[in-house]
Amino acid sequence: METGPWTLWGREYDSPLMLASGTAGFGLELMEMGMLAGVAAVVSKATTLLPRDGNVPPRIVETRYGLLNSVGLANPGVEEVLASVLPAASRLPVPLIVNVAGDTVEDYASVVERLDSSPVPVGYEINVSCPNVSAGGAAFGASPSTVEEVSRLVAAATRRPFSVKLTPNEGSMVESAAAAEEGGASAVTVCNTFLGMTVDWRTGEAPLKRGVGGYSSPALLPLTVARVHLTRRAVGIPVLASGGVGSPEDVLELLAAGATMVQVGTWLMRRPGAALELLEGVRELLDGLRGFPDGTGT
Ligand SMILES: Cc1cc2nc3c(=O)[nH]c(=O)nc-3n(C[C@H](O)[C@H](O)[C@H](O)COP(=O)(O)O)c2cc1C
Repeated sequence: METGPWTLWGREYDSPLMLASGTAGFGLELMEMGMLAGVAAVVSKATTLLPRDGNVPPRIVETRYGLLNSVGLANPGVEEVLASVLPAASRLPVPLIVNVAGDTVEDYASVVERLDSSPVPVGYEINVSCPNVSAGGAAFGASPSTVEEVSRLVAAATRRPFSVKLTPNEGSMVESAAAAEEGGASAVTVCNTFLGMTVDWRTGEAPLKRGVGGYSSPALLPLTVARVHLTRRAVGIPVLASGGVGSPEDVLELLAAGATMVQVGTWLMRRPGAALELLEGVRELLDGLRGFPDGTGT
């Protein structure tokens, strides 16, 4: 297990924690609040070629054990992101990875090509796995050959590194991870939200208009640990864990299972200062492993 510093794509970080896509915008609000301490890198909300209004509200529903979301990739589109969001994001004290989504396989490369005109993103996360859209979305991630094709098109469009964010909902994630590597991906993110649904048993109605949504929460941890472990054995590129973090032990478990870096999402929405709390906890636990911090072991 990496015990720090943690290295991804040639950069060294003193934290293994990234902010998961869709749970921190572009990091600007957290920066204003001085809450990016403990964060290695921010992964942005999805950016698409054209603006998207997203799904009709409600977009987030709390269930007893976790969160269901149906945001539907709401975003202002790549031109607006280039014109106003990325210039503001150049002030971020940590690197920004832009999450990219598309309606067609060609969309991904077009968005990445446009984003490459900005010096701000250090890399991309290619979201072939959103459960909340009907066109494309998870369908791309379900087929290893499509994952390979998207990866090839993106690799041809940029020299920056990119991670392909996989779906746990359809197809074989391990085969898709291998396909992403074959297509030129520089990492895989394991993984997006799990398809979930809640129903009011009194009325039989689902609060989310699409019925189903993406489920996330610390309750996902064993599901993510298993998938990180299986994917780690199948590919040589870094595995970025996403799903299930709610404590420093969870971060270390994902690293021990083979993750290079660990993303935190839902837990961050509950506790905006989560990254620093988690990092301090990770350091304490690792110091305990090594003996006392002064090295005396007494
Ligand atoms: C409100 C919300 C919005 C999200 N939006 C995106 C998105 O735009 N793109 C993406 O790849 N993942 C998105 N995700 C998935 C998260 O990045 C993360 O993979 C997932 O929540 C699992 O991690 P967690 O258990 O730590 O929350 C979103 C999750 C939530 C809760």
